[in-house]
Amino acid sequence: MPAIDVPAIRHQFPALAITEGGRPVAFFDGPGGTQVPQRVIDAMTRYLRTMNANHGGRFLTSERSDAMLAHAHELVADFLGAHVDEVKFGANMTTLNFTLSRSIGATLGPGDEVVVTRLDHEANVGPWEALARERDVVVRRVDIREEDCTLDLDSLREAIGPRTRHVAVGYASNAVGTINPVAEIVAIAHDAGATVSVDAVAYAPHAPIDVRELGCDFLLCSAYKFYGPHVGILFGRRELLDALPAFKVRPAEDRWETGTQNHEGIAGTAAAIEYLVELGERFGTPFADGLSRYGGRRLALKAAMTAIRATEMELFTRLMDRLDAVPGIRTWGIRDRARFDERCPTIAFRVGSQSPAETAAALGRRGLFTWDGDYYATGLMERLGLADSGGAVRVGLVHYNSADEVDRLGEALADLAR
Ligand SMILES: Cc1ncc(COP(=O)(O)O)c(C=O)c1O
Repeated sequence: MPAIDVPAIRHQFPALAITEGGRPVAFFDGPGGTQVPQRVIDAMTRYLRTMNANHGGRFLTSERSDAMLAHAHELVADFLGAHVDEVKFGANMTTLNFTLSRSIGATLGPGDEVVVTRLDHEANVGPWEALARERDVVVRRVDIREEDCTLDLDSLREAIGPRTRHVAVGYASNAVGTINPVAEIVAIAHDAGATVSVDAVAYAPHAPIDVRELGCDFLLCSAYKFYGPHVGILFGRRELLDALPAFKVRPAEDRWETGTQNHEGIAGTAAAIEYLVELGERFGTPFADGLSRYGGRRLALKAAMTAIRATEMELFTRLMDRLDAVPGIRTWGIRDRARFDERCPTIAFRVGSQSPAETAAALGRRGLFTWDGDYYATGLMERLGLADSGGAVRVGLVHYNSADEVDRLGEALADLAR
């Protein structure tokens, strides 16, 4: 039995009822963006109906709006295990990371070094490369172990040296699902005197995050990957957010949240986290023992994400069994079931000599929504030698996917392979 009663939660997500040609569609595109529960949609329309206003006005709607914003910061702080002042909203992870890299970059000089990885999404690489071009900063790239698409920690130790000022690493790969040993990487980087930012976009929908346990200095994620709307989130340690040069206009109170934020999106983000709190209260009890260091809403959130992790990985094993039964399929990422705790339920594959675009289109015609190409994991696809031939098909599971959907996908792939 999965930890979460999947049929019971699916009805909360209106998009899961979409049909095409009389058949229900199946969303395996979670790593590209997840669907939202009805309460997220309601919160966004409620914002626009009852509190739509700019920040700081001396009247009802502005006061309501500011109260909503304060509450949303508290919810995200609980989601990440951070202090409320350490949470900043923005357009998306990429834009926030450009802001962060520009800010850190203003403290760097020629010859200083930043470390990135070949496993990462371009949003966690490109901003640092742009900095290198502008400020003569050296960017070093950590390699992967090709056989299982994990980060090569020897390569990481070699890349980090006395000139390293910052390390930008992903929590999980959006392409092949690998979870990186972030706490260990943070310790290595801190020993060298470098700060660390973690791209948690591909990890946040799947498992609990605790920035204090990781010890990281910054962490970024995007609400649209964890059942919310299109909003980016930055966590930064308070003393660093206060000390780093910020790019703000004079009257603005906040040094990081520039201009007027996407208030209705932030209202939706708060509702997505409230959905997770409720999930934790409903299905999280069996996991509470291992989470005794948390209380209240933080406990509910950690329990929810632990229940999600258990549910997803059970389904992922079924998915891998189905994929393994397809003749001529080739997968990238950790395949050894005994090591599934090192991965998220996201897998990249190719079917025989079919181009990934062809496979994804054929699946799409059957109402099975997957992705193909490089999904901005461009460095990884180059490293795997797949960049010039269409990358790979990507299937990602989230907690609302069902065993029936996975079986349908398995049958469709077996059919395409014939
Ligand atoms: C791992 C990872 N990092 C960063 C991003 C970029 O996020 P955003 O679309 O919020 O800029 C994505 C988006 O797919 C991603 O999967």
